[in-house]
Amino acid sequence: MNFQFTEEQLMIKQAARDFAIAECLPGVIERDEQQKFPKEQITKLADLGFMGMMVDPQYGGSGMDTISYVLAMEEISKIDASVSVCMSVNNSLVCWGLEAFGTEEQKQKYLTPLAQGKKDGELYIGAFLLSEPEAGSDASSQHTTAEDMGDHYLVNGTKNWITNGSTSSVYLVMAQTHPEQKSHGINTLIIEKGWPGVTVGGKENKLGIRGSDTTSVMFDNVKVPKENRVGEDGFGFKFAMKTLAGGRIGIASQALGIASGAYELALKYSKERKAFGKEIMHHQAIQFKLADMATRIEAARALCLKAAWQKDQGQDYTVSSSMAKVFSSETAMWAAVEAVQIHGGYGFVKEYHVERLMRDAKITQIYEGTSEVQRIVISRLLLQ
Ligand code: CAA
Ligand code: FAD
Repeated sequence: MNFQFTEEQLMIKQAARDFAIAECLPGVIERDEQQKFPKEQITKLADLGFMGMMVDPQYGGSGMDTISYVLAMEEISKIDASVSVCMSVNNSLVCWGLEAFGTEEQKQKYLTPLAQGKKDGELYIGAFLLSEPEAGSDASSQHTTAEDMGDHYLVNGTKNWITNGSTSSVYLVMAQTHPEQKSHGINTLIIEKGWPGVTVGGKENKLGIRGSDTTSVMFDNVKVPKENRVGEDGFGFKFAMKTLAGGRIGIASQALGIASGAYELALKYSKERKAFGKEIMHHQAIQFKLADMATRIEAARALCLKAAWQKDQGQDYTVSSSMAKVFSSETAMWAAVEAVQIHGGYGFVKEYHVERLMRDAKITQIYEGTSEVQRIVISRLLLQ
């Protein structure tokens, strides 16, 4: 067992930290208040090669490992989880899915610009469209249909809660082709936002990650060429599950970053704030909170890195990514509440950042599979 990062991994972590402080921290409170999508930050992340971090350089990516991805996600999420969710979706749901299961033509046409995050000088990112108004946790009960018309599919239906919904150029859409075959009848189709019949809904007014772009997307008789299906006929549900196993490492690392960002702020504040004649860090109640936060965060980090390491080694990481996600997200929610408590009344106002981290933490227990769903995945595999 080796707990040592390579020089390259440490450089990536430092680059992500520098980027987050220089580019994401300025304006983070205003973007949250105004629900402003961090377009400038995402464009610069693309220039750094962070929108297709793990993609092979022959398809426009940076060819980094999953450990580096975890380190970068943690650093950016310490400052702005609205930036990091966009990065996570593009890297681990969209690019990974296309690289693992796409055809050579799909990789040339779609993956390459998505991994670069740019096409013709413009931002070019993707979204993953699984959830529907009546199919969230129960993801195999898809109502969106992809009718097989011979040389093309005709897609109809509504997708909900789509991250990068209005800012994406490309959608990976799960839809039902053979309803009688249930999860085995679902296909994943690549649909361009600009195609006739595609409509994007308004931006959701959210509790947290308010800068991120969450919308519904509607499909009305959208004609999709057969060559835009990813994988064999009926592979769509397995595609979604396999892709989400990696996506959950990204969201687990986002939660880790929110937790460690809250901890760093609480530690700093406890050294500055005085009460009863001494800095509050000298009160044992505060020391114990900080000790528990540091311990749980370290455990969350170990789970994230183990899942990433297993992925890099070509091992099965389904259980470890679900364990990392459920533990990190619950740690993030708890640690952010503790950080607000350590800040007292100042924690309750926006300038001190911890109230935003607390609001942002909540979503990590819900998206890419709720905590209950992670426990279903873990227990089913353990009980096999
Ligand atoms: N890899 C490969 N195959 C898998 C798999 C995996 N990880 N998980 C399931 N499958 C296969 C099963 O083996 C089964 O195949 P067979 O019939 O051939 O045996 C098939 O898929 C159906 O599996 P289940 O019976 O387990 O399916 P289920 O209907 O009971 O659902 C579930 C299982 C785990 C609850 C699943 O529906 C699930 O993960 N739900 C949560 C959905 C989710 O995470 N959505 C996230 C949307 S994206 C997002 O949220 C992005 C964002 O916010 C930023
Ligand atoms: P439901 O499935 O209705 O669950 C309601 C409650 O019941 C939850 O607590 C759940 O855990 C519990 N529950 C359900 N079934 C069980 C069970 N069998 N056992 C125990 N408890 C159960 N989806 C995408 O496809 N792409 C995206 O990019 C995307 N981005 C999102 C961004 C945001 C900001 C949000 C809020 C959501 C996003 N989602 C996205 C959707 C997200 O993945 C779903 O909200 C999530 O999977 C839960 O589904 P649901 O909201 O329908 O809740």
